Amino acid sequence: MIDIRISDCNKSYGTLKVLKNIDLEIERGEFIVLLGPSGCGKSTLLHIVAGLDRLTSGTIEIGGRDVTDVEPKDRDIAMVFQSYALYPTMSVRRNMEFGLRMRGKPLSEIRPLVEEKARMLHIDHLLDRRPSQLSGGQRQRVAIGRALVRDPKVFLFDEPLSNLDAKLRASMRTEIKKLHQSLGTTAIYVTHDQLEAMTLATRMVVMKAGEIQQVGKPEEVYHRPVNLFVADFLGNPGMNFMRGQIRLDGGRVSADVGAAMLPLDGYAFAMPPSDGQAVVVGLRPESVQPATGQAPAGSEPFVLTLKPLLTEHTGSDNLVVLEMGDQEIVGKFPTDPPPKLGEPVTVGFDLSRLSVFDAATERRL
Ligand SMILES: Nc1ncnc2c1ncn2[C@@H]1O[C@H](COP(=O)(O)OP(=O)(O)OP(=O)(O)O)[C@@H](O)[C@H]1O
Ligand SMILES: [Mg+2]
Repeated sequence: MIDIRISDCNKSYGTLKVLKNIDLEIERGEFIVLLGPSGCGKSTLLHIVAGLDRLTSGTIEIGGRDVTDVEPKDRDIAMVFQSYALYPTMSVRRNMEFGLRMRGKPLSEIRPLVEEKARMLHIDHLLDRRPSQLSGGQRQRVAIGRALVRDPKVFLFDEPLSNLDAKLRASMRTEIKKLHQSLGTTAIYVTHDQLEAMTLATRMVVMKAGEIQQVGKPEEVYHRPVNLFVADFLGNPGMNFMRGQIRLDGGRVSADVGAAMLPLDGYAFAMPPSDGQAVVVGLRPESVQPATGQAPAGSEPFVLTLKPLLTEHTGSDNLVVLEMGDQEIVGKFPTDPPPKLGEPVTVGFDLSRLSVFDAATERRL
């Protein structure tokens, strides 16, 4: 059942096109994460769903109703901002009550609701304080609590955790996930943070310069990026890219990347490749590991002997920069034993994880 339908949406500020032909259908109960570089239009899209910004053209439907010209307050949505946007002179309780009071709900009904949500968010002992007397994480909980008491049809979050330190962020992320699992309310969540996107999203929407690049489950977008931009945008450390050419030889397909011929017989080409076609072959660092003599299930063993040039210890792994002809490739190695610089090692490639892109169009083949 479609809960939000964004159809052919365009938004311009003067001559600047900020959103271009956005089409997106969101089912009831989905947790959609919008991800993309700064300035790509994530907040603008969220504001348009909220009704805080007007569309230049297109329509928005929420719950089967065309709300394109409906005021934000009549859209049955609740938004949580990065800046919390709490009323500084009101107590936490008042902040959480405010939206429902404005709607004329009797206080006898509001009170127990606020207390229930405050308990859920572990802020019930803070109800009589003002926002200035709270930590960043506590303020963020109040902002979320204020949205929760409204019991809206849709939650909109604009980078709600970006002001928090790494540890608090991680714990709030888990709580938001739990909340969504228990409430099941449709949500659109904007973030810069890939980990947040990967862990929270039921589906992820990757944007670039006002356009949607890919919509899909996190693992799908991560493992099968539709183009070089998405491949490069996701993952830390980033995907390795090897430039080369397709070789078609007696029914066998491979990519000649200079230092190696990578067999592509098992690769599910979406478009048939041609001999000599210039390609970029992508492989994530975790798919480049010391050879164990055993290939990962479902893939053929493929090993190369490569020279480590540099290692970076990240705590849990060693990122190892390996020389591969005139290119370099990063592998994710265990910390023990540490590779010796300059001393060649046998490296296994998980070819089942390859992505192949046309070098000119940058689209996945
Ligand atoms: N009121 C406005 N007038 C003119 N241009 C605007 C206005 N609001 C946003 N923009 C421009 O629209 C583009 C998209 O902005 P938006 O805030 O949606 O980006 P974003 O993806 O949320 O970025 P960030 O990750 O930095 O928050 C930017 O180029 C921005 O400068
Ligand atoms: Mg933004």
